[in-house]
Amino acid sequence: KAEIADVVVSPASEGVPISRNIYGQFSEHLGHGVYGGLWVGPDSSIPNTRGFRNDVVSALRALEVPLLRWPGGCFADKYDWRDGIGPRKRRPNRVNTAWGDVPETNAVGTHEFMDLLDQLGGTSAYIAGNIGSLTPTDMARWMEYMTAVGGSTLAKERGKNGSRVPFRVAFFGVGNESWGCGGNMTAEKAAATTRRYAAFFATAPGTRTIRVAAGPNVDDYHFTEVMMRDAGARYFDALSLHHYTFAGTWERKGSAIGFSEAEWGSALRNARRMEELVTRHSAIMDRYDQEQRVMLAVDEWGSWLDTPPGKDPNLYSWQNTLRDALVAAITLNVFHRHSDRVRMATIAQMVNVDQAMIHTDGPRMFRTPTYWVFDLYKPFRGATPLASVTGGPRYRVGAITLPAVDASVARAEDGIIWISLVNLDPTRARNVRLTIPGMSSPCALVGHILTAEAMDQHNDFDEPDRLVPARFSATLTTGGIVSLPAKSIVVGRLSLS
Ligand code: AHR
Repeated sequence: KAEIADVVVSPASEGVPISRNIYGQFSEHLGHGVYGGLWVGPDSSIPNTRGFRNDVVSALRALEVPLLRWPGGCFADKYDWRDGIGPRKRRPNRVNTAWGDVPETNAVGTHEFMDLLDQLGGTSAYIAGNIGSLTPTDMARWMEYMTAVGGSTLAKERGKNGSRVPFRVAFFGVGNESWGCGGNMTAEKAAATTRRYAAFFATAPGTRTIRVAAGPNVDDYHFTEVMMRDAGARYFDALSLHHYTFAGTWERKGSAIGFSEAEWGSALRNARRMEELVTRHSAIMDRYDQEQRVMLAVDEWGSWLDTPPGKDPNLYSWQNTLRDALVAAITLNVFHRHSDRVRMATIAQMVNVDQAMIHTDGPRMFRTPTYWVFDLYKPFRGATPLASVTGGPRYRVGAITLPAVDASVARAEDGIIWISLVNLDPTRARNVRLTIPGMSSPCALVGHILTAEAMDQHNDFDEPDRLVPARFSATLTTGGIVSLPAKSIVVGRLSLS
C-alpha cells in the first residue's frame, strides 16, 4: 500500500484558470541567445526570414509561445533602445558589458524583435525597460516610439523605420533585478525608483500595458514586503520573482550531465522550492492586495548549471537533460497550483542560454527535453486547475526526501480533464491511484510520456531526437491505478476506454 501514490481531486475545489502567459519565454542579448541562435542576418547562408533563422522560428512557432521577454535580464538595464533603431548599417557598435564584453552590433533592435514576434505567430511583447542607467524620459520615449499614433515625431520616426502601425506592448518591465545588476538598490530605494518611473510611464490611449516591477530574488521576503508596502498596486500590475535551480550551490552549480543521483535529488529539491517561494511571497502580497490585482510574475526560472570545461563561460550554455525536463514539469505544476497569483512567467531562456528550448551550432539545431515539456503542457492553457492532494511514498536520496510523485489536474475549456504526473524517483516505478469525482469507469489516461534509461539522457546535434515524448496509454482499473515508470513525466487526458 505504501507504494501507491494517491492523487485525490477535491470535488468542489476549483482554482482560477491557468493563464497561458505562464508558458512565456525569455531571450536576452547574452551568448548565442539572440545572435546565432535566433538571428543570423538576412545575408546568412542559413535559411532565414528577414534575418531570423527559419529552423528555430518554425520549431518555436509550434510551441505557440504566448509572450517573449527581451532584451534582458541584466542587459536590459544597460541597453539604450535608440541604438537599435534606424538603418542597421548605421547603428552603433557597443560593448556588451553585461555579458563578457563581447561586441553588440545592435542588429537586433525594436523592429527586428517585433518582427520575430510576428514570425512566431503572434507572440506578445514583454519589453524589459532600463531604470538602472537611463532616465524616466528615455523609458517614456521608448514607449511612445513603440505605441504612439498620429503626429508624434517619434511615431513618424517609427513609420520611417518601417512600421507606421504602432506596436503592441503587452508587458513592460520596469527594470530587472534592481537589487543587483539593475542598480544595486535596497528594497526601499527600489520601491521609490519604481514609483518614480511609474509616474512617467505612459502608453497610447486605448491600449493597456502591464507594468512589471522588478521584484525579489528567491527568498528575499523583505524586498516583497517593501515593494508592496511602499509602491504596490497603484504603481505596478505585476511583481517579478527570480528563482534558479542549481544542482549544487551558487559557487558550484553542478554538472549538466554525468551527475550523481544525489545531484539529481538536489536539483529536484531546489526546483520544488518554488512551491514555498510562491506561497510565501503570495502571502505577503495578499496582505497589501487582497483583490489580487498584482500578479506574481516569475520571469526568470529554470536550471542554472556549470558551463562544461572547454566552453566559453560567457555563453551560459550547457546541456539540457531529462532532469531539466522534470525541473520544468514540477515548476509548471507549482504555477498551476498558484494560478490565482502566478499569472505570468518566462523561463530562462529560449535558445542556447540557461534552460533552453533549443540549442544551435552554426546551421544545426536540436530541441531539448524542456522543449518537449512545454509542448506537452499546451492543453493546460486556460484550463481550470482542480485542487488535488498528492500523498504516498517518498523518494529518498541521502538526506533529501521528496514526495515521489508530483501531479497537476485541470479541466480544459472543452471539459476534458488533463493530468500531469511526474515520478521523481530515478530508480523505481510508482503506482498512482487517481481519485477524480465523476470519473467514469473504465476509462483511460491517454497522452505522452517523457522518460529514458539514464538520468542525464539528452539530445544533441548528432542525435536530435534521442529523447522525445512517446505515446502513453493506461487503462484505469477499479481504484484508478496507473503505473508510472521511474523518472518520467506523463501528460494525458482522461477518456472513456
Ligand atoms: O539569465 C541570466 C541572468 O540571470 C539574467 O540576465 C539576470 O537577470 C539573472 O541574474
